Amino acid sequence: MPGQFDAAYQRSITDPDGFWADAAEDIRWSRRWDRVLDDTNKPLYRWFVGGELNTCYNAIDRHVDEGRGDQPALIYDSPVTDTITAFTYREMQQRIARCAGALVQQGVQKGDRVIVYMPMVPEALITMLACARIGAIHGVVFGGFAAKELATRIDDAKPKLIVSASCGIEGKKIIEYKPLLDQAIEMASAKPARCIILQRPQVEAPLVPDRDVDWNTAMETAQPVDCVPVAATDPLYILYTSGTTGVPKGVVRDHGGHAVAMRWTMKNVYNVEAGDVYWSASDVGWVVGHSYIVYAPLLAGCTTILYEGKPVGTPDPGAFWRVISQHNVKVLFTAPTAFRAIKREDPDATHLARYDIGCLKALFLAGERCDPDTLSWAQEKLGVPVIDHWWQTETAWAIAANCIGIEQLPVKPGSPTKAAPGYDVRILDDETGEECERGKIGNICVKLPLPPGCLPTLWNNDEGYISSYLSRYNGYYLTGDAGYQDEDGYLYIMSRIDDIINVAGHRLSTGGMEEILAAHPDVAECSVIGAADQLKGELPVGLVVLKSGVDRSETDIVGELVQMVRSKLGAVACFKQAVVVQRLPKTRSGKILRGTMKKIADGSEYKPPATIDDPAILGEIGDALGRIGYAKT
Ligand code: COA
Ligand code: AMP
Repeated sequence: MPGQFDAAYQRSITDPDGFWADAAEDIRWSRRWDRVLDDTNKPLYRWFVGGELNTCYNAIDRHVDEGRGDQPALIYDSPVTDTITAFTYREMQQRIARCAGALVQQGVQKGDRVIVYMPMVPEALITMLACARIGAIHGVVFGGFAAKELATRIDDAKPKLIVSASCGIEGKKIIEYKPLLDQAIEMASAKPARCIILQRPQVEAPLVPDRDVDWNTAMETAQPVDCVPVAATDPLYILYTSGTTGVPKGVVRDHGGHAVAMRWTMKNVYNVEAGDVYWSASDVGWVVGHSYIVYAPLLAGCTTILYEGKPVGTPDPGAFWRVISQHNVKVLFTAPTAFRAIKREDPDATHLARYDIGCLKALFLAGERCDPDTLSWAQEKLGVPVIDHWWQTETAWAIAANCIGIEQLPVKPGSPTKAAPGYDVRILDDETGEECERGKIGNICVKLPLPPGCLPTLWNNDEGYISSYLSRYNGYYLTGDAGYQDEDGYLYIMSRIDDIINVAGHRLSTGGMEEILAAHPDVAECSVIGAADQLKGELPVGLVVLKSGVDRSETDIVGELVQMVRSKLGAVACFKQAVVVQRLPKTRSGKILRGTMKKIADGSEYKPPATIDDPAILGEIGDALGRIGYAKT
């Protein structure tokens, strides 16, 4: 019904207590909350204070109790191992209860942290939910990160236990996880007491005596345990994300607000209900995987799909259509880069003719800006609404979306539509902090409080939370994205205001890469920019100034730099290109002009800032980037 979205949105802003209390009725609580929103400790807010629940109960056991025990909860579809296995809610309950027992047997208690470093296998979800079952806090680390990144997260979370696997499978490559895990534990100061290791048939990992326990042995010797009630405000998980330096931020998620928001979004944002099949083609290591492979679809009683494969090459660009038709997928959620990969290999979508995907009702895209070309290609080929929505690790769900379960609004390519209920989005002027007029680019902020599900703080770091997000403008959360709102209230997300770049939907800090390059003995100074890439959105490119007197070959040095980023940060950074320059362009106060270099790399028009120290350097930068295939106009 027209106007229904605006009415829901208005209510969420003017009566957040009533709005979210209604949504909370869909969650099973072991103790009802005393207050919906606790604002007594501004700028930190808490949702559903006094309430008690168990997220695992709501995601799994509840559905068994309410008659969905025989419905598939999870379909594991793994073209890389030629496996398709379905697990009913009842089977998941049994496995999770036993896994929770194994965690307890290894000494894990409520409030303890468990790091999960696993590929896309059912055991990853089972471990996450087993943690939730006993009130332990999971910290999933994406498998594409190298040992040092894992070590940093181990030191911050100080886990009692790590759950990992012998290997991941990336297309045709086997990635051994165990050597990375062992190195990370070696580097970390906070050593876990135990590791549980899932031995996959592709690789048998050697186990460290007295520390490592085989997954199967741990499960066989464990007794199933029941769900324990936890406070709504207790942490469910920590998820690390890139900040403006090499040190990642530990985003905390609570139990109560998260469960309420997750379940609410399934119907209202995605128009998906209990019994429907929902597929998020992401990775459990990212927030999209946490929210939309694991928690939201299960909290809503859907069937979720865990896909261990790629959009192309496993085996062909028809892989997504095969999964949709084979499992009767109603809604698919992925990153635009996945569709760009399919489009590149099969521009006419000829593989679609082999499958009936009539079950698909909508495609949702997020993780990076969706270029209008990809959007219209997907719309034309699939014949369903293609919805761009905008969110971030910190929020766990969409800040802006076309909430098709409330009312489907017209799609404007290039815009993720309007602020979602609960988010009072304002565009603030970078300098004055005043609200920008419509059409003018500014910093995209959310007036506090953030809705349920969003981060209440950073792990053990309230001060870091306040200084990174809440102190730029009093009373507002700084998203870190810049953009504008049009006359109809549609949002346009244009760029980051910090040094974060987006590579194949993965959020990476160029500052973190610069720290690595700067450690090379021949490098005097460096900068990393995100240059536009047709497939991955952006790719990191290093510009390095060598120390005087260094006369080694550029190819050798660049090769070493590439290897350093790969081994310190991980393959996921896709850092493959760097170039030696004589000088870096700077302002007179010494600030490196990364934005200008990016424009040069992309062949976009640029105006050197008035404060530039020596404009002649820009020509040199253009020449250097030209040597490696950039700076084409
Ligand atoms: N474990 C170990 N290594 C991993 C990994 C994992 N979980 N995920 C990626 N990597 C490695 C890859 O093997 C690759 O290594 P290489 O340099 O040796 O080739 C590197 O990290 C880069 O991976 P990726 O960015 O995935 O590139 P790709 O070329 O293998 O695939 C796409 C390109 C577009 C098909 C792929 O990026 C994709 O499917 N993207 C979907 C986006 C997505 O899921 N985003 C998540 C947020 S919604
Ligand atoms: P992550 O925390 O990894 O999910 O990355 C969040 C960041 O990705 C956001 O702050 C944006 O910069 C970018 N992003 C995510 N979704 C979109 C989108 N739909 N449009 C534009 N940028 C997006």
